Amino acid sequence: MEAFLVEGGQRLEGTLRVDAAKNAVLPILAAAILTEDAVTLLDVPRISDAAHMAEILTILGCEVEQQGKRMTVRSGGLHGWEMPDRLSKQIRSSIFLLGPILSRFRKATVTYPGGCEIGLRPIDLHLRGLRSLGVKVSESGGMIHCDGSAMKAGDVYFDYPSVGATENVMMAAVLLDGVTTIHNAAREPEIVDLQNFINAMGGRVKGAGSQMVEITGVKKLHGVSYTPMPDRIVAGTLLAAAAITGGEIELTNAPTADMMAVLSKLREMGCLIHEEPATLHIKAPERLAAFSQLQTQPHPGFPTDMQVQMLALLSVAQGMGIIMENVFENRFTHAGDLNRMGAHILCSGRTAVVQGVEQLYGARVTARDLRGGAALVLAGLKAQGLTQVDHAELVDRGYDHLEDQLTALGARIRRIDV
Ligand code: UD1
Repeated sequence: MEAFLVEGGQRLEGTLRVDAAKNAVLPILAAAILTEDAVTLLDVPRISDAAHMAEILTILGCEVEQQGKRMTVRSGGLHGWEMPDRLSKQIRSSIFLLGPILSRFRKATVTYPGGCEIGLRPIDLHLRGLRSLGVKVSESGGMIHCDGSAMKAGDVYFDYPSVGATENVMMAAVLLDGVTTIHNAAREPEIVDLQNFINAMGGRVKGAGSQMVEITGVKKLHGVSYTPMPDRIVAGTLLAAAAITGGEIELTNAPTADMMAVLSKLREMGCLIHEEPATLHIKAPERLAAFSQLQTQPHPGFPTDMQVQMLALLSVAQGMGIIMENVFENRFTHAGDLNRMGAHILCSGRTAVVQGVEQLYGARVTARDLRGGAALVLAGLKAQGLTQVDHAELVDRGYDHLEDQLTALGARIRRIDV
């Protein structure tokens, strides 16, 4: 196991560039198999979720080449329609392959996917969406078999705007004859990015970013070189790191327009933020002020993936605040560790009540999921003394060497073997 060792008390300063977003890269890697031509992605962060996705694609017969932040997928040799069990359990995004594999082979077999333990995370909406396109779904021995021999374009309605289910149906429909319309689609910016990518390959998708996405089938897609959108959650986490240390940093290649909810909360806490289309500058006050309330919601509401970082910030803010987690049912698992560091957080169901304290104290704590691990690192940056965050590998799923990024901003943090 690896851990982060953080020595708190350093004020962060400096400039960093934000790479492509994990949540854009993963569905785009899945969509890359919709063409047999080469697809090259630029700016891809070195994160383990992307590496696992590349491994799954390789097992299915694709050639995947990675050089630094450039990743090329050639799926001419794709032969498998059964998702490898071990890897699917490691990475939830393997479920994204269901739509594109069905599109290529008209059949697919998957297991229930894994990922962060932040809630039940069922895939019923994915399956229901595909059923609306004529896919027959059956289950046996823990495997899900999809028969797409009678697949056809049509109307899909989601009871809830699921990000992954919206993306899966978009990818399944791209090569179907006719028009598919997704109603009550998720509106996350990464869905717009997937639309832009598919259209860059010659697809005809419109409406992403609104509640209705329309996919007009095309016969064939072609290869492309594409730079996925920058990561709004990594950008938000770095701004939060500056905020908790009373620092001042600048982010370049930042997806400013997609970060309104987070920027507004940081302002509410007393941070001065100067925004330009691709640059964000934050200057934090000596002591943050508590916001009274934060509720996570689907985009454009406050993103659940930034909730636990804000919990860390609220822990040391002046005053009292409440956080409500409305998207996942199990996303306060790090409150106990923050309390061990001196925070005063009371959780009940989907609500956390936080009384800010002046100081946190270093402790040995455990990352239980990707964003929670990052939040503990933020707490460690503020805490007096040494904080050890076990299970750094969970943080590596979505942050490209977080310790190096923070060190570049003046933090004292390193990775150790435990
Ligand atoms: C994506 C993001 C994740 C983010 C989440 C919400 C990727 C790779 N991951 O995850 O970082 O936290 O959006 O913004 O893009 N649900 C069902 N049935 C389903 C699917 C989802 O009940 O078939 C529920 C989930 O349990 C959850 C809610 O819907 O409570 C939101 O999930 P969803 O929008 O699907 O998130 P993901 O696509 O898994």
